[in-house]
Amino acid sequence: MKSVCVLHLLRNKMVRSFGNVREEEISLMMEKIRKSSSLPVNLSEILASLTNDVVSRVALGKKYGGETDFKELLERFIRLLGVFSVGTYVPLLAWIDWIRGLDAEVEKTKNEFDEFLERVVQDHVDGYGDRNDFVDILLAIQRNKSVGFEIDRLSIKAIILDAFVGGTDTTSALMEWEMTELLRHPKFLKRLQEEVRTVCKGRSIVLEDDIQAMGYLRAVIKETLRLHPPVPLMVPHESTEDVKLGDYHVPAGTQVMINVWAIGREVATWGPDADEFKPERHLDTPADFRGQDFELIPFGAGRRMCPGISFAVVLNELVLANLMHGFDWRFPVKSTEDQTGVAESTGLAIHRMFPLYAIASSPT
Ligand code: HEM
Repeated sequence: MKSVCVLHLLRNKMVRSFGNVREEEISLMMEKIRKSSSLPVNLSEILASLTNDVVSRVALGKKYGGETDFKELLERFIRLLGVFSVGTYVPLLAWIDWIRGLDAEVEKTKNEFDEFLERVVQDHVDGYGDRNDFVDILLAIQRNKSVGFEIDRLSIKAIILDAFVGGTDTTSALMEWEMTELLRHPKFLKRLQEEVRTVCKGRSIVLEDDIQAMGYLRAVIKETLRLHPPVPLMVPHESTEDVKLGDYHVPAGTQVMINVWAIGREVATWGPDADEFKPERHLDTPADFRGQDFELIPFGAGRRMCPGISFAVVLNELVLANLMHGFDWRFPVKSTEDQTGVAESTGLAIHRMFPLYAIASSPT
């Protein structure tokens, strides 16, 4: 199933083919910000709707983000994935999850999501619309039996659900942290703006072909992924064989959590200023986040690595570059420490604890 995701839905060529969706949604976002007329905008909300809308259009063929029920359902689903389940770790105490209503909420949410996805898949089967979204592609694979095994309806729904869970909250959390750190460090914000505005001189928007020339933009993204990996403990892994690691013996079948957040702040690797946001540190180093350099693995590494990396990075680069090109940014004058700080929420993807408000003005 993972190879279906990687080869048919998320590989580079596919990701590139959805360029028109990205451009249209980014242009709507820029318009929304422009209309704020120098009043504080809730960037957390704007970035979350943008990623929801892009993933909805690419995966399902249209936007469902505006339907409040779907938005609420997706938020609930993602929140539940990050809740600590006592029964998973201490089976004898599983009754606690039942008493506190976790089991009932999980069951209800699962059923509602299943009904929603069932409706979406059926719409596609009935030939509603003429698209080439993920559901269409998966249905074609099912019809043509073009992979070596059967893909049933449940698997199609599961893959689509994975794209939502894996792709929306993570990508918007990353962009929220990038804007947070840039607003906290106006010097770096200015440097990035200069780069973007030089590359796109005389034009009102940034296009995907411009990004190649933006080395500092890539450094800002890398630095944010280092300090604020959206999935700081990755997803739980299990060792398949006995391993000796340092002085520890890890038997086969042990659940292993990898602390990407701590790896990114390791003083031995990153130096005494490991806790500071400094994009410059990436300008002369080849270390990348694509799973080859173990000091920077916000998308994981190896066979379980995130298949959505290109999807996320291509969208992220274009959004950030356009935000830098189209506006000057600052925190509202009366911002509190909570509003300008880096306090983190809990959950599967780690967002800011408080929404990010900023003032956008026309470029000077
Ligand atoms: C900044 C954005 C993203 C980050 C930081 C991120 C991070 C991760 C991480 C850390 C893992 C677990 C890797 C492991 O445990 O080895 C993962 C898995 C996964 N991601 Fe992402 N991801 C992002 C965006 C996306 C997008 C856009 C999609 C799809 C559209 C996606 C789909 C998935 C899926 C399906 C898995 C599970 C893979 C498996 O179980 O083998 N992710 N991601």
